[in-house]
Amino acid sequence: MVDTSGNSYQAAVCEELKKPLVVKDLPRQPLKNSEVRIKVEYCGINYADILKSMGLYQERAKLPFVPGCEPAGTIIEVGRDVTGYQIGDRVIALMRLGGYADECVNYAKSVWKLPDNVSLQDATAGLASYGTAHMALIAKAGTQIGETVLVSGAAGSVGLAAVDIAANVIGAKVIAIVGDDEKIELAKDRGATYVINHRKQDVRKEILAITNKRGVNVMIDNVGGDMFKIGLRSIAMDGRIVPIGFASGQIPSIPANILLVKNVSVSK
Ligand SMILES: NC(=O)c1ccc[n+]([C@@H]2O[C@H](COP(=O)([O-])OP(=O)(O)OC[C@H]3O[C@@H](n4cnc5c(N)ncnc54)[C@H](OP(=O)(O)O)[C@@H]3O)[C@@H](O)[C@H]2O)c1
Repeated sequence: MVDTSGNSYQAAVCEELKKPLVVKDLPRQPLKNSEVRIKVEYCGINYADILKSMGLYQERAKLPFVPGCEPAGTIIEVGRDVTGYQIGDRVIALMRLGGYADECVNYAKSVWKLPDNVSLQDATAGLASYGTAHMALIAKAGTQIGETVLVSGAAGSVGLAAVDIAANVIGAKVIAIVGDDEKIELAKDRGATYVINHRKQDVRKEILAITNKRGVNVMIDNVGGDMFKIGLRSIAMDGRIVPIGFASGQIPSIPANILLVKNVSVSK
């Protein structure tokens, strides 16, 4: 039943892991001083939301919970200590849980105003992917112009963002790894110089041929498992690897001797 008193809102609730979400009315909670309340129009469906709803994420959410970490909408209430935001601002938020709902509450420090030319819908496709890729390439790996960057899972959301930023913002040479010929053009369009289909080609052999056996300077790894190991073995001296996630479902272990011999750093 829908409560029209304004004291509740509708949300898609995970009541049981690995089961469909249930749409229900939830009671509205009072706003803390540092928070804003957002009327949600769109919410990205992130890999992490799915993992959380299956009980496979590294941080287990306590049941019941509302998934959704990337909602976009309009501010409808502002906490007493919040400055710089007002009712009516169009925003995107990054949160652990709570975005799959009519409205959500988040700390203002994890909410950003959107420029007029960015739609709420587009914003939900950009924050987690581009934010993650930007931090990995720039803050973690310190990628420099002219370096060679290997991106696994390159046709996925973080992968495409990493290809775009590496090629078009930093000016690096990008080798993209995809699992389907149809994704080759997608990765090239986004800026990849070379694209390897890991289902058809020997990835390590291709990387060594492309780099004249020197290897890549940076690997952004979205896949984990064997792909991480191939990347580690294809990295150049002083290379940097940033593990982003484990889309293969396999968490790799690291042979520390390779780190030592090639002075490779792995950051998270
Ligand atoms: N650390 C963070 O803050 C952060 C933020 C966002 C996402 N993540 C994590 O990053 C990973 C990617 O997220 P996403 O949103 O980009 O996911 P996505 O859009 O689903 O893309 C994942 C890609 O991984 C590839 N893949 C899946 N299984 C594979 C396998 N066995 N071998 C090789 N490639 C495989 C797929 O490409 P092909 O089919 O073309 O091979 C797919 O395009 C996830 O693990 C996610 O949880 C972490």
